[in-house]
Amino acid sequence: MARNTSTDPQELVLVLDFGAQYGQLIARRIRECHVYCEILPYDTPTERILARRPKGIVFSGGPSSVYDQGAPLCDPALFESGIPILGICYGMQLMGTMLGGEVRAGAQREYGKTELTVLNHGDLFDGLNPRLIGWMSHGDRVEKVPPGFVETARTSHALAAMSDPTRRLFGVQFHPEVVHTPWGIEVFRSFLYRQCGCRETWTTESVVTSAVRAVQEQVADGKVVCALSGGVDSAVTAALVHRAVGEQLTCVFMDHGFLRKNEAVQVVRTFGENFGVNLVHVQAQERFLGRLHSVVDPEQKRRIIGEEYANVLEEEARKLGDVQFLAQGTLYPDVIESGTRDAARIKTHHNVGGLPETLKLSLVEPVRYLFKDEVRAVGEELGLPAEIVWRHPFPGPGLAIRVIGEVTPEHLETLREADAIIIEEIMAAGLYRRLFQCFGVLAPIKSVGVMGDQRTYGNTIVLRAVTSDDAMTADWAQLPYEVMSNISTRIINEVRGVNRVAYDISSKPPATIEWE
Ligand code: XMP
Repeated sequence: MARNTSTDPQELVLVLDFGAQYGQLIARRIRECHVYCEILPYDTPTERILARRPKGIVFSGGPSSVYDQGAPLCDPALFESGIPILGICYGMQLMGTMLGGEVRAGAQREYGKTELTVLNHGDLFDGLNPRLIGWMSHGDRVEKVPPGFVETARTSHALAAMSDPTRRLFGVQFHPEVVHTPWGIEVFRSFLYRQCGCRETWTTESVVTSAVRAVQEQVADGKVVCALSGGVDSAVTAALVHRAVGEQLTCVFMDHGFLRKNEAVQVVRTFGENFGVNLVHVQAQERFLGRLHSVVDPEQKRRIIGEEYANVLEEEARKLGDVQFLAQGTLYPDVIESGTRDAARIKTHHNVGGLPETLKLSLVEPVRYLFKDEVRAVGEELGLPAEIVWRHPFPGPGLAIRVIGEVTPEHLETLREADAIIIEEIMAAGLYRRLFQCFGVLAPIKSVGVMGDQRTYGNTIVLRAVTSDDAMTADWAQLPYEVMSNISTRIINEVRGVNRVAYDISSKPPATIEWE
């Protein structure tokens, strides 16, 4: 499938990734300075790097030692290219060895918050205090700076920064990208604005303008289909494509029967009525439920739902006839991680929007270069309602993987009602945006209770609320007791068939966010 939608910014800075833990953070900080930035593997051919005409290059940190056999190196030609380079941690050590300085294993590792003294403010430390606390994580250090470089900051143990202002090559041993180096953003600003001559061209408006233009160029007068899930990524994708090619876009919103309360109404109202998008609202509840009959295994549920989703979408796309493009809300973290991720399959994730290759559609991915917070900003800029822009992530298979065991219409209804109460109460307490996700799970446990002198034998709803940055790890949220109490009381009083509410206090890992 062709993937050629790009946001086509005018000024670009590239991060070469040497295996950094914080590579994405570097890109995010640079974009916070309103300069567009992309991450490339360290061994990207030099011609490809230069063809992008970057205004600056950042070498990331990495786990290797520069003197290890097979340590990742860069092409020395980059140092002669005239493009300003900032090396961070391993990146600085690489500059150190490759340009004729000396790097050694330090007698003392520096890890965590470390004081450093600025020796020369001119290049990267303009306007900053002479003594700073920065975050370090290294064993090796630059012992002797290469010819042409001067030392610009030190800790009590090691060199903390160096620069060659003539060639505009800079190295910092600390990590300016992490929050524990709060003034780190100033180092990026100095590098970007003063050394690279970048202007603040990466703004939400410019993102919208260039994404719209890129979609217009790619699609020309072709037809596009976009599967809306109700989530922010597909919503922003659809809104951008609609702004770009209007009537040529048809959105398919599929109700597989596992949506949250009012979700369908909201999507249909926003896209169909407010935006005037061509919208096909597919009612496929029975089809999905039928296929899940007596299925209890989580992976089987996921597989069946994914398969059925693709089937229905394919049918809809065929009905539209003559569609050449599929718009999809792929985000930049997925792009960076795909190919490098080599983890065991814990769960089959069916991202809404997948279509069989047989349809031969080209992908239109207007948010492919955006981080989640940027997608939200674009959503706001495009006038999408806050409920969609700020909605928590929701799995493609929806409530079907939150009803543990067999999925029945009754269980779905119970969970849907309980889930709506949870969200309402979390919002009323002003906690919604502080949580990564909060939802209910219907556990296949019945227990005895007493209501109005009557014995009950009812279902259990488990409340799950987590904080997280990226869903890779998560903590259970320490919700105020009062909020938990309100949620429990309301669910037990208002949702028929539920007589018990429990709170999930497991973090990820070892648990996962969803139960199935
Ligand atoms: P887990 O349960 O693996 O979930 O900790 C991590 C994040 O992914 C979401 N999730 C999904 N998203 N399709 C999706 O688009 C899926 O099939 C799916 N399953 C889980 C989950 O809600 C959490 O944010």
